[in-house]
Amino acid sequence: MSQFAFAFDDSDLQQRCRQQLTQLADWVRFGASQMARHEVFHGQGFETAWDESLFLCLRALQLDWDLPAAALATRLLEEERAQLWHLLQQRCDAKVPTAYLLQEAWFCGEPFKVTPDVLIPRSPIAELIETGFEPWLTQAPQRVLDLCTGSGCIGIAAARLFPDAQVDLSDLSEAAVAVAVENVAAKDLGWQVDVYQGDLFESLGDAHYDLIIANPPYVDAEDIDTMPAEFHHEPRLGLASGDDGLDLVRRLLSEAANHLSDDGLLVCEVGNSAGALMEAYPDLPLDWPEFSQGGLGVFIVRAQDLRRHFAQV
Ligand SMILES: C[S@@+](CC[C@H](N)C(=O)[O-])C[C@H]1O[C@@H](n2cnc3c(N)ncnc32)[C@H](O)[C@@H]1O
Repeated sequence: MSQFAFAFDDSDLQQRCRQQLTQLADWVRFGASQMARHEVFHGQGFETAWDESLFLCLRALQLDWDLPAAALATRLLEEERAQLWHLLQQRCDAKVPTAYLLQEAWFCGEPFKVTPDVLIPRSPIAELIETGFEPWLTQAPQRVLDLCTGSGCIGIAAARLFPDAQVDLSDLSEAAVAVAVENVAAKDLGWQVDVYQGDLFESLGDAHYDLIIANPPYVDAEDIDTMPAEFHHEPRLGLASGDDGLDLVRRLLSEAANHLSDDGLLVCEVGNSAGALMEAYPDLPLDWPEFSQGGLGVFIVRAQDLRRHFAQV
C-alpha cells in the first residue's frame, strides 16, 4: 500500500465519500485512485485501474459496461454508494479480484459466472477462437473437448464457434464442474455441451476429438511463490503444477494422441512454462501462435506428430 493510500477503515473518510461522491463518475474515479493507492494487481482481465473501476462500478449496479459516457453523470442512491464502498474495500484491502466480487467475468464477448472455485477467464486462446483457429484448422470439427475447463468458458465459446459440433467439458474439481454446469445451463447449451468430472481423460471413455483445447495448471514453483495476492484467491489446483509447471502437461501430452482423431489438433496453454516445455520436448513439432491482443505461451500440435513422437520414446 502506498504511503498516500486512504485507509478504508477510516470512518470519517467513509462518511465524506458517501456524502461528497454523488455521481457514478465520482465513484469510478475514486475507485481507480484507491486501486492505484493500494497497489492492486490488474492482471485478471483488466489492464488499468480505470478500466477495472469502471467495470466494477457499472456491473455492481447492474449496468452494461459499454454505456455512453453521459451515463456516468447520473447520481447514486445512498445505498448504492454504500455498496460500492464495501466492494472497493474488499478489492483494495483483501485484494479480492473484481470477478469474484461480482461473480462475473467476460470471455469471447459474453459473461460467465465465476466463483473462487474456478480460475478467472483470461486465456489468450480467446483470440484463437475468435479467429476460428486459422490457419491450423482447415474444416469445422465434429467433436471438441475443453480439458481443464474451469468455468467452461473455452468450451462454451468453442460451441458458439462450431454450432454443429458436440462439445465436452471436463475438470478434476467437482466444485469447478458445478460452475461449468451452471454456465452451460444459463446459456441453454445443454443440447450441445456435456460436462464431465475426472482426472484428465479418465471420464471420457474412448472418445476421439477433432480438437482438444486445454488450459491446464502450469505455473511453476517459483512463480507460485512470487505471484500477486490476487492470484491466491484463485484455486491452487487451477494454477500450480510442480517445480517446472509441467507435471500435468507432460501427462496430457502423452495421453492426448489416444483421444484425438487422425487429423486432430491439440491446442494447449502453458504460459511462462513455454521455455521449459521446449527444453523438455525439443523434437516435438510445436507451433506457437502470436497474439495481437496480448498473451503468449499457447502451442498447437497435430495428432500425427504426437503419435510419432510418443511411439519413438
Ligand atoms: C488454468 S485453470 C483453467 C480454467 C479454464 N479453462 C480457463 O481457461 O479459465 C485449470 C483447470 O484445470 C483443472 N485441473 C487441475 N488438475 C486437473 C486434472 N488432473 N484433470 C483435469 N482438470 C484438472 C483445475 O481444476 C482448473 O479448473
